[in-house]
Amino acid sequence: MPLAKRAIEQFHARLHSWYNAHGRKTLPWRNTTDAYAIYISEIMLQQTQVKTVLERYYAPFLKRFPTLSHLARSEADDVLQAWQGLGYYNRALNLRAAAQACQKALPETVDGLMALPGIGRNTAHAVCAFAYHQPVAVMEANVKRVVSRIFALTDPKDPELWEKATLLLDTKNPFDYNQAMMDIGSMVCLKRKPLCGQCPASSICEGQETPEAYPAPKVKKTVPVREKHIAVLRNPDGHYYATARSSRFLNGLYHFIETEKDNNSVLFHKQALPLSAGQMLGHVRQQYSHFTLEADIWLLDVPHSRQNHWYPLAELKKLPVSMAETKILALIAAIKPAKPKSPKQ
Ligand code: ADE
Repeated sequence: MPLAKRAIEQFHARLHSWYNAHGRKTLPWRNTTDAYAIYISEIMLQQTQVKTVLERYYAPFLKRFPTLSHLARSEADDVLQAWQGLGYYNRALNLRAAAQACQKALPETVDGLMALPGIGRNTAHAVCAFAYHQPVAVMEANVKRVVSRIFALTDPKDPELWEKATLLLDTKNPFDYNQAMMDIGSMVCLKRKPLCGQCPASSICEGQETPEAYPAPKVKKTVPVREKHIAVLRNPDGHYYATARSSRFLNGLYHFIETEKDNNSVLFHKQALPLSAGQMLGHVRQQYSHFTLEADIWLLDVPHSRQNHWYPLAELKKLPVSMAETKILALIAAIKPAKPKSPKQ
């Protein structure tokens, strides 16, 4: 049976009083009218938990790039460095590209925002609802679960979810409504063992008898393991070789030379350098979104090389890198200086 207008209004009233009593109203991006700051928060929160964004990234990023034009004038390396550890680094490069594409300010429409790199419908709606108080529904992962349960949907596709989310939206107070829906998703309508007894949507929720059935749990894909050797090259000055990736994955982040586990040498300027001539520094395991990296890390000393891309450790530590390289940097920092050769008798 379609939801009656009256029932939806009652739900709005309950949701707002729940939000007033329990909502996370002190989150900094809920206490600013600066569309740029709200946009930064929404991009950070796309694939990262509130706690991580709050404790380590949001304020430092805004301090370093306080306005859209600061970000537009930034170096890609600096933006990646501020993003280091957050993952999904294209988000950072897209932020910079979007800032450069805007003349002065962010657009104030869903379509205008969606025309920018890295902004999909959900982020555009979030910016419009939170910065401009426009009547559009936000639908991040937690809200998808709430909506799926309210309408008892086992395998909903996005168009259906958007339709239902729009039907539920409180157009009179889209700011509080959308923030509250996200809070319900993360605090009450939990993936497992949801707290239906405390939920302000219980008067309209069709899924509350068997909430965990909505949406039906997905069979987890197992991610492949990629086994590699990673070679850290060191020249006689004690500098290390690193280059920026230019690839879809981890684009712009610096890395060392790597090869498949089956190989016993790495290629450097068309020369095969045998790993057996080096020193094993350790092993690194890193879980990425679509594979797990298992890598043996080698230190290889090479005769002086005139090419650039050589960095002393202190400089290397300032380059933007992903988590695996952060672990490798720790192994490099722990290298014991070679023992001086004992003087000839
Ligand atoms: N995730 C995405 N946007 C959010 C917001 N405004 N508050 C909390 N979590 C979020």
